[in-house]
Amino acid sequence: MEGVRRVTTQTLRQMKTAGTPIAMLTAYDYTMARILDRAGIDAILVGDSASNVIAGHETTLPITLEQMIYHARCVVRGVTRALVIVDLPFGTYQGNSKEALVSSIRVMKETGAHAIKLEGGTAVLPAVERILQAGIPVMGHLGLTPQSIYKFGTYKVRAQDKDESDQLRKDALELERAGCFAIVLEKIPIQLSAEVSESLKIPTIGIGAGNVCDGQVLVINDALGLTTDFNPRFVRHYAKLSELTSQAVKDYVKDVRTRDFPTAEESYWVDGRS
Ligand code: KIV
Repeated sequence: MEGVRRVTTQTLRQMKTAGTPIAMLTAYDYTMARILDRAGIDAILVGDSASNVIAGHETTLPITLEQMIYHARCVVRGVTRALVIVDLPFGTYQGNSKEALVSSIRVMKETGAHAIKLEGGTAVLPAVERILQAGIPVMGHLGLTPQSIYKFGTYKVRAQDKDESDQLRKDALELERAGCFAIVLEKIPIQLSAEVSESLKIPTIGIGAGNVCDGQVLVINDALGLTTDFNPRFVRHYAKLSELTSQAVKDYVKDVRTRDFPTAEESYWVDGRS
Protein backbone atom coordinates (compact mmCIF):
# COMPACT_ATOMS: atom_id res chain seq x y z
CA MET A 1 0.00 0.00 0.00
CA GLU A 2 1.38 3.43 -0.97
CA GLY A 3 2.38 5.85 1.77
CA VAL A 4 3.08 3.08 4.29
CA ARG A 5 6.62 3.26 5.68
CA ARG A 6 6.61 -0.22 7.17
CA VAL A 7 4.02 -2.88 6.39
CA THR A 8 2.75 -4.67 9.50
CA THR A 9 0.16 -7.36 10.11
CA GLN A 10 -2.21 -4.48 10.97
CA THR A 11 -1.57 -2.89 7.56
CA LEU A 12 -2.69 -6.12 5.87
CA ARG A 13 -5.88 -6.12 7.95
CA GLN A 14 -6.53 -2.47 7.01
CA MET A 15 -5.96 -3.34 3.34
CA LYS A 16 -8.64 -6.01 3.55
CA THR A 17 -11.05 -3.54 5.16
CA ALA A 18 -10.26 -0.95 2.48
CA GLY A 19 -10.68 -3.54 -0.30
CA THR A 20 -7.06 -3.07 -1.44
CA PRO A 21 -5.59 -6.38 -2.68
CA ILE A 22 -2.35 -7.46 -0.96
CA ALA A 23 0.64 -8.33 -3.19
CA MET A 24 3.01 -10.97 -1.80
CA LEU A 25 5.90 -12.81 -3.48
CA THR A 26 8.50 -15.24 -2.22
CA ALA A 27 12.20 -14.39 -1.94
CA TYR A 28 15.17 -16.36 -0.67
CA ASP A 29 18.13 -13.96 -0.96
CA TYR A 30 19.23 -10.36 -0.32
CA THR A 31 19.42 -9.16 -3.93
CA MET A 32 15.94 -10.32 -4.88
CA ALA A 33 14.38 -9.17 -1.60
CA ARG A 34 15.83 -5.68 -2.15
CA ILE A 35 14.35 -5.49 -5.65
CA LEU A 36 10.91 -6.65 -4.47
CA ASP A 37 10.93 -4.29 -1.50
CA ARG A 38 11.91 -1.26 -3.60
CA ALA A 39 9.28 -2.17 -6.21
CA GLY A 40 6.54 -1.85 -3.57
CA ILE A 41 5.68 -5.44 -2.64
CA ASP A 42 3.55 -5.57 0.53
CA ALA A 43 4.81 -8.86 1.96
CA ILE A 44 7.70 -11.22 1.26
CA LEU A 45 7.40 -14.91 2.08
CA VAL A 46 10.63 -16.78 2.70
CA GLY A 47 8.89 -19.93 1.49
CA ASP A 48 10.00 -23.49 2.02
CA SER A 49 9.62 -23.60 -1.78
CA ALA A 50 13.35 -22.75 -1.48
CA SER A 51 13.64 -26.52 -1.17
CA ASN A 52 12.40 -26.80 -4.78
CA VAL A 53 13.62 -23.69 -6.57
CA ILE A 54 16.90 -23.09 -4.74
CA ALA A 55 18.02 -26.54 -3.63
CA GLY A 56 16.45 -28.55 -6.49
CA HIS A 57 14.55 -31.02 -4.34
CA GLU A 58 11.35 -32.58 -5.66
CA THR A 59 9.36 -31.57 -2.56
CA THR A 60 9.52 -29.04 0.28
CA LEU A 61 10.15 -31.76 2.85
CA PRO A 62 13.97 -31.87 2.95
CA ILE A 63 14.68 -28.21 3.79
CA THR A 64 15.89 -27.71 7.37
CA LEU A 65 15.26 -25.00 9.96
CA GLU A 66 18.93 -23.93 9.68
CA GLN A 67 18.56 -23.50 5.92
CA MET A 68 15.32 -21.51 6.30
CA ILE A 69 17.00 -19.30 8.89
CA TYR A 70 19.91 -18.67 6.49
CA HIS A 71 17.53 -17.65 3.65
CA ALA A 72 15.44 -15.49 6.00
CA ARG A 73 18.50 -13.61 7.30
CA CYS A 74 19.57 -12.86 3.72
CA VAL A 75 16.07 -11.59 2.85
CA VAL A 76 15.68 -9.45 5.97
CA ARG A 77 18.93 -7.58 5.16
CA GLY A 78 17.41 -6.47 1.84
CA VAL A 79 14.09 -5.19 3.20
CA THR A 80 13.14 -1.86 4.73
CA ARG A 81 9.38 -1.75 4.10
CA ALA A 82 7.71 -5.10 3.39
CA LEU A 83 6.42 -7.53 5.99
CA VAL A 84 8.71 -10.60 6.05
CA ILE A 85 7.12 -13.97 6.84
CA VAL A 86 9.10 -17.20 7.19
CA ASP A 87 7.81 -20.74 6.59
CA LEU A 88 8.38 -23.22 9.41
CA PRO A 89 9.78 -26.23 7.54
CA PHE A 90 8.40 -29.76 7.69
CA GLY A 91 9.17 -31.54 10.95
CA THR A 92 9.79 -28.45 13.06
CA TYR A 93 6.27 -27.86 14.41
CA GLN A 94 4.05 -30.91 13.88
CA GLY A 95 5.49 -32.96 16.77
CA ASN A 96 4.13 -30.84 19.61
CA SER A 97 3.41 -27.22 20.47
CA LYS A 98 6.63 -26.78 22.44
CA GLU A 99 8.70 -27.83 19.43
CA ALA A 100 6.66 -25.40 17.31
CA LEU A 101 7.32 -22.57 19.77
CA VAL A 102 11.06 -23.31 19.96
CA SER A 103 11.31 -23.32 16.13
CA SER A 104 9.37 -20.04 15.87
CA ILE A 105 11.49 -18.35 18.53
CA ARG A 106 14.64 -19.38 16.68
CA VAL A 107 13.28 -17.89 13.44
CA MET A 108 12.31 -14.61 15.11
CA LYS A 109 15.51 -14.24 17.17
CA GLU A 110 18.01 -15.33 14.53
CA THR A 111 16.54 -13.70 11.40
CA GLY A 112 14.80 -10.46 12.35
CA ALA A 113 11.72 -11.54 10.33
CA HIS A 114 8.28 -10.35 11.41
CA ALA A 115 6.08 -13.48 11.35
CA ILE A 116 6.01 -17.20 10.69
CA LYS A 117 3.76 -19.35 8.49
CA LEU A 118 2.80 -22.95 9.04
CA GLU A 119 0.59 -25.41 7.19
CA GLY A 120 -2.59 -27.05 8.47
CA GLY A 121 -5.81 -26.39 10.35
CA THR A 122 -7.26 -27.89 13.52
CA ALA A 123 -4.42 -30.42 13.74
CA VAL A 124 -1.87 -27.65 14.36
CA LEU A 125 -4.10 -25.38 16.49
CA PRO A 126 -2.30 -26.07 19.79
CA ALA A 127 0.97 -25.07 18.09
CA VAL A 128 -0.60 -21.94 16.59
CA GLU A 129 -2.02 -20.91 19.97
CA ARG A 130 1.26 -21.43 21.79
CA ILE A 131 3.28 -19.47 19.22
CA LEU A 132 0.75 -16.63 19.35
CA GLN A 133 0.88 -16.60 23.15
CA ALA A 134 4.60 -15.86 22.83
CA GLY A 135 3.72 -12.77 20.78
CA ILE A 136 4.77 -14.17 17.39
CA PRO A 137 2.38 -13.41 14.51
CA VAL A 138 1.23 -16.53 12.64
CA MET A 139 0.02 -16.91 9.05
CA GLY A 140 -2.00 -20.07 8.30
CA HIS A 141 -1.92 -22.13 5.08
CA LEU A 142 -4.86 -24.30 3.92
CA GLY A 143 -5.87 -26.21 0.78
CA LEU A 144 -2.94 -27.76 -1.07
CA THR A 145 -0.34 -27.83 1.69
CA PRO A 146 2.86 -29.07 -0.02
CA GLN A 147 4.36 -30.52 3.18
CA SER A 148 1.51 -33.11 3.07
CA ILE A 149 2.09 -34.07 -0.56
CA TYR A 150 2.73 -37.73 0.25
CA LYS A 151 -0.59 -37.90 2.13
CA PHE A 152 -2.45 -36.28 -0.82
CA GLY A 153 -0.48 -38.33 -3.38
CA THR A 154 -1.14 -35.67 -6.04
CA TYR A 155 -0.87 -31.92 -6.68
CA LYS A 156 -4.48 -31.70 -7.92
CA VAL A 157 -6.98 -29.04 -6.75
CA ARG A 158 -8.00 -29.61 -3.10
CA ALA A 159 -11.36 -29.27 -1.31
CA GLN A 160 -13.51 -30.20 -4.26
CA ASP A 161 -15.78 -32.50 -2.28
CA LYS A 162 -18.10 -31.66 0.61
CA ASP A 163 -16.06 -33.25 3.39
CA GLU A 164 -12.81 -31.51 2.49
CA SER A 165 -14.43 -28.14 1.78
CA ASP A 166 -16.40 -28.28 5.06
CA GLN A 167 -13.16 -29.07 6.89
CA LEU A 168 -11.39 -26.16 5.18
CA ARG A 169 -14.16 -23.70 6.17
CA LYS A 170 -13.91 -24.95 9.75
CA ASP A 171 -10.08 -24.78 9.76
CA ALA A 172 -10.15 -21.20 8.46
CA LEU A 173 -12.53 -20.05 11.20
CA GLU A 174 -10.48 -21.85 13.86
CA LEU A 175 -7.24 -20.26 12.67
CA GLU A 176 -8.87 -16.83 12.76
CA ARG A 177 -10.33 -17.47 16.22
CA ALA A 178 -6.89 -18.56 17.46
CA GLY A 179 -5.45 -15.21 16.29
CA CYS A 180 -3.73 -15.83 12.92
CA PHE A 181 -3.26 -12.54 11.04
CA ALA A 182 -3.82 -14.03 7.55
CA ILE A 183 -4.30 -17.36 5.78
CA VAL A 184 -2.82 -18.61 2.50
CA LEU A 185 -5.36 -20.54 0.40
CA GLU A 186 -3.60 -22.77 -2.13
CA LYS A 187 -5.16 -24.46 -5.15
CA ILE A 188 -8.83 -24.61 -4.18
CA PRO A 189 -11.99 -23.78 -6.20
CA ILE A 190 -12.70 -20.07 -6.59
CA GLN A 191 -16.21 -20.39 -5.11
CA LEU A 192 -14.77 -21.79 -1.89
CA SER A 193 -12.08 -19.04 -1.73
CA ALA A 194 -14.83 -16.41 -2.12
CA GLU A 195 -16.89 -17.94 0.65
CA VAL A 196 -13.93 -18.29 3.04
CA SER A 197 -12.60 -14.79 2.26
CA GLU A 198 -16.03 -13.27 2.97
CA SER A 199 -16.49 -15.22 6.19
CA LEU A 200 -13.18 -14.02 7.69
CA LYS A 201 -12.11 -10.64 9.07
CA ILE A 202 -8.44 -11.53 8.47
CA PRO A 203 -7.07 -11.47 4.89
CA THR A 204 -6.79 -14.52 2.68
CA ILE A 205 -3.82 -14.70 0.32
CA GLY A 206 -4.46 -16.91 -2.69
CA ILE A 207 -2.26 -19.02 -4.92
CA GLY A 208 -4.36 -20.91 -7.42
CA ALA A 209 -7.45 -19.76 -5.52
CA GLY A 210 -8.83 -17.06 -7.86
CA ASN A 211 -8.95 -13.26 -7.72
CA VAL A 212 -11.55 -13.26 -4.95
CA CYS A 213 -8.93 -13.60 -2.21
CA ASP A 214 -7.79 -10.51 -0.32
CA GLY A 215 -4.30 -10.87 -1.79
CA GLN A 216 -2.16 -13.02 -4.07
CA VAL A 217 1.17 -14.79 -3.73
CA LEU A 218 3.45 -16.39 -6.32
CA VAL A 219 6.83 -18.07 -6.10
CA ILE A 220 9.23 -15.44 -7.48
CA ASN A 221 11.04 -17.94 -9.75
CA ASP A 222 7.68 -18.77 -11.39
CA ALA A 223 6.58 -15.13 -11.69
CA LEU A 224 9.86 -14.17 -13.38
CA GLY A 225 9.82 -17.15 -15.74
CA LEU A 226 12.99 -18.62 -14.24
CA THR A 227 11.29 -21.99 -13.80
CA THR A 228 10.16 -23.40 -17.13
CA ASP A 229 9.17 -26.92 -16.16
CA PHE A 230 6.37 -25.93 -13.73
CA ASN A 231 3.33 -24.54 -15.51
CA PRO A 232 0.10 -24.87 -13.54
CA ARG A 233 -2.69 -22.57 -14.74
CA PHE A 234 -2.35 -20.24 -11.74
CA VAL A 235 1.20 -19.17 -12.65
CA ARG A 236 1.60 -16.03 -14.74
CA HIS A 237 5.08 -15.30 -16.11
CA TYR A 238 5.75 -11.56 -15.74
CA ALA A 239 9.11 -11.94 -17.46
CA LYS A 240 11.05 -14.57 -19.38
CA LEU A 241 14.21 -14.56 -17.28
CA SER A 242 15.15 -18.12 -18.17
CA GLU A 243 15.37 -17.22 -21.88
CA LEU A 244 17.04 -13.86 -21.18
CA THR A 245 19.64 -15.43 -18.87
CA SER A 246 20.35 -18.25 -21.29
CA GLN A 247 20.91 -15.77 -24.16
CA ALA A 248 23.13 -13.60 -21.95
CA VAL A 249 25.30 -16.60 -21.02
CA LYS A 250 25.58 -17.65 -24.68
CA ASP A 251 26.68 -14.10 -25.60
CA TYR A 252 29.24 -14.11 -22.78
CA VAL A 253 30.70 -17.48 -23.84
CA LYS A 254 30.98 -16.22 -27.43
CA ASP A 255 32.69 -12.96 -26.35
CA VAL A 256 35.19 -14.86 -24.17
CA ARG A 257 36.01 -17.33 -26.95
CA THR A 258 36.55 -14.53 -29.50
CA ARG A 259 38.45 -12.30 -27.00
CA ASP A 260 35.84 -9.58 -27.54
CA PHE A 261 35.56 -9.49 -23.76
CA PRO A 262 37.18 -7.74 -22.02
CA THR A 263 38.02 -4.79 -24.27
CA ALA A 264 40.93 -2.36 -23.71
CA GLU A 265 38.46 -0.07 -21.88
CA GLU A 266 37.45 -2.91 -19.60
CA SER A 267 41.11 -3.58 -18.65
CA TYR A 268 43.61 -1.90 -16.27
CA TRP A 269 46.89 -0.46 -17.59
CA VAL A 270 50.18 0.39 -15.81
CA ASP A 271 50.28 3.85 -17.42
CA GLY A 272 46.90 4.77 -15.93
CA ARG A 273 45.21 4.92 -19.35
CA SER A 274 41.42 4.90 -18.90
O1 KIV B 1 6.70 -22.05 0.16
C1 KIV B 1 6.02 -21.29 -0.55
O2 KIV B 1 6.51 -20.68 -1.49
C2 KIV B 1 4.61 -21.16 -0.20
C3 KIV B 1 3.75 -20.41 -1.18
C4 KIV B 1 3.51 -21.24 -2.37
C5 KIV B 1 2.49 -19.94 -0.55
O3 KIV B 1 4.17 -21.64 0.78
